[in-house]
Amino acid sequence: MPIDPASVPKSLRRRHVLLCVGGGIAAYKTADWASQLTAAGVALHVAMTASAQRFVGSSTYFGLTGNPVFTDLFSPTGPPEPHVWLSDWAELILVAPATANIIARIAAGEASDIVTATLLASRCPIVIAPAMSDAMWSSAAVQHNLALLSERGMHIVPAESGRLASGHEGFGRLASTERVFRELQTAWLSTHDLAGIRVLVSAGGTREPIDPVRFIGNSSSGKMGFAIAQAAALRGAEVVLVSTASHPEETGVKVIPVNTAAEMLEALTRELPGTSMLIMAAAVADYRPTHVAAHKIKKDAHPSMTIELTQNPDILAHITSLPEAKGIITLGFAAEDTDMLEHGKKKREAKGLDAIFVNDVSRSDIAFGSDYNEGSLILRSGEIHSFQRREKKQLADELLNVLRDLSANRNA
Ligand code: PMT
Repeated sequence: MPIDPASVPKSLRRRHVLLCVGGGIAAYKTADWASQLTAAGVALHVAMTASAQRFVGSSTYFGLTGNPVFTDLFSPTGPPEPHVWLSDWAELILVAPATANIIARIAAGEASDIVTATLLASRCPIVIAPAMSDAMWSSAAVQHNLALLSERGMHIVPAESGRLASGHEGFGRLASTERVFRELQTAWLSTHDLAGIRVLVSAGGTREPIDPVRFIGNSSSGKMGFAIAQAAALRGAEVVLVSTASHPEETGVKVIPVNTAAEMLEALTRELPGTSMLIMAAAVADYRPTHVAAHKIKKDAHPSMTIELTQNPDILAHITSLPEAKGIITLGFAAEDTDMLEHGKKKREAKGLDAIFVNDVSRSDIAFGSDYNEGSLILRSGEIHSFQRREKKQLADELLNVLRDLSANRNA
């Protein structure tokens, strides 16, 4: 079988995929899959049952993937709890060939070896590609166990009919590469509804310098923007986060650090091409000092002082007026403390946004600096969604749901 990385769906490239190899004659086919997936840019780890190693040696997968192969629950050289490490690492798992035995063990919730323990500990989508004798395939026990796995949300790629290793003709052959890779993509997209979408997010409060050590700023921690960036990345989006704040690096998020409104505007405009959603959670200073002192201002020289301010450009209004922004779904945030809805509606319209989330910045239990937020999302259509106080990460997912639907309607 020729190696054809083009057969690997694009959405799987750069993803973390774990291949769990079961002990069946069809195991040799999965060595070729490991090769194709790796050549296509998938980050692939392989775990093997003891009987799988009687069909194909672990060094084959090591050679093909360049990654150490997991064969044991206890390893003196690898991570201390390899099944936990692997299940945290994997974004998608393929079990192939899934023998009658391994299917029964997964159905029973066993955790007696590296494969079953990892599967039990994992939260990501799992694809099961069975292969076995025709009699085993048609047995009530196997079909019952497969139905159980399917009910639990696992994706089954049914065995195909053809000539079996035993010489029998019938159902039991491992499904074709094309069908298995297609199911991997379906499984991935089932929990990664933003795959293929580029999301541009801003976070934090801008810092407008007065002199080399002082600035005009605000209390934005960047938590809201980071929560949105992370939620979008976890759902498969390509995420660029332009931020004045820093938090632990988020997986799959490209962070561009900036300080001032001008830098934020420049970075966002540069990153705009290819963007599907622009989400401005940053608290941008409306004004900046007109003159920035070259050296630290000495207090003795100024018993009192006045700082002259110049208005900053409105980043959102500027971007939404660009021809490149056509078709991009835009969400702004409105920091208000009175007449929330009225001010929010005006801001949405003035900035040409598809939606604006209005939050009450006079409250200490939400918005600035808090892990929680509450507010109303006003859409261009006039529709309003209210969100009671909840964690920013939960709110982030709910806002992304609305934007995803707006985007789907726009492209319909
Ligand atoms: O960062 P956290 O601590 O988690 O706090 C979150 C938050 C309170 C900062 C966030 O929820 C929020 O309300 N962000 C918007 C703050 C703000 O600048 O609001 P505004 O009403 O002044 O601006 C309205 C919108 O225009 C915002 O999306 C803002 O990013 C944008 N804007 C503002 C000024 C400007 N010159 N250019 C802009 O694009």
